Amino acid sequence: MSLPKHVRIVEVGPRDGLQNEKQPIDAATKISLIERLADSGIVHIESGSFVNPKWVPQMAGSDEILSDVQRKDGVVYSALTPNIQGFGRAVLANTDEVAIFTAASESFTQKNINCSIAESIKRFEPIMEEAKSRNMKVRCYVSTALGCPYEGYVDPVKVAEIARQLYDMGCYEVSISDTTGVATPASTQRVLEECLKLIPLENLAVHMHDTYGQALANILMALQMGISVVDSSVAGLGGCPYAKGASGNVATEDVVYMLNGMGIETGIDLEKLIQAGDYICQHLNRDNGSKVAKAWLSKQ
Ligand code: HMG
Ligand code: MG
Repeated sequence: MSLPKHVRIVEVGPRDGLQNEKQPIDAATKISLIERLADSGIVHIESGSFVNPKWVPQMAGSDEILSDVQRKDGVVYSALTPNIQGFGRAVLANTDEVAIFTAASESFTQKNINCSIAESIKRFEPIMEEAKSRNMKVRCYVSTALGCPYEGYVDPVKVAEIARQLYDMGCYEVSISDTTGVATPASTQRVLEECLKLIPLENLAVHMHDTYGQALANILMALQMGISVVDSSVAGLGGCPYAKGASGNVATEDVVYMLNGMGIETGIDLEKLIQAGDYICQHLNRDNGSKVAKAWLSKQ
């Protein structure tokens, strides 16, 4: 077992978490959430998404959020960009870093971004060129890497091939994504083994939704395989608008609690993080999806 000493958390709550919320959330609240997350010690915050606002109305204000959020030194404020139009918006809003996203299954790719996997890769080419000329880092996601809501089983070999294509295009980190939270530690191990044949360990991350309650176990498997970058969402916010029934990402508080207990550093102040999650849950009048936060808050 070779556990990492340090884990970088990529906080996706303000994007993956909030994109699925039906009620409108004003920019000031989103900005306040992002600032609280940065204050808790998180160093990478996916803060918005430059997609078609007709498809994901909750992300329409990402331009304002990325422009106006108070920057903290050492923190990366990133956003999703599906095409060059989105990338242009990201640049105008002073986004530090962008993330492109495709999937390992055709049906989900069509539903999510209205094109085939091959077409999505074509759309990324101008983004990669522009990003390179601006010295901007690009991260990426391979969705449905552990199962597709429309097609079911997804071949880990195919996941690894797509991940490799994105890595070859210049993405510095490939986040292997369990969009619908169907993975178990066994399937997580299988897909990561394939990915590790084609991509260096330090360039892989995991993005586990917690629909079936397996996310922490899957993350533990990834850590045991040496992965040291974990995506998570404060208060377990979220889901995916194109994966019906998928619940949020694993709660950041739960991941940090587990890592603390294992002696793995994150640089995050758990108490401040719980307060950031509580802030947004109270604002949304929503149940807190973090068990750790619930336990801690019930004692206050
Ligand atoms: P498209 O097929 O090119 O275009 O969209 P369209 O048919 O949707 O419409 C074209 C219109 O979109 C035009 O406007 C364009 O200007 C506009 P109109 O002339 O009709 O007024 N448009 C845009 N506007 C603003 N920003 C843009 C943009 N691009 C086109 N960037 C597109 C393709 C990808 C844009 C669309 O399908 C879309 O926005 N999809 C939403 C995808 C999404 O946000 N999904 C959720 C995030 S992914 C996720 O959650 C998974 C992840 O967490 C990992 C995991 O868990 O698996 C990352
Ligand atoms: Mg996701």
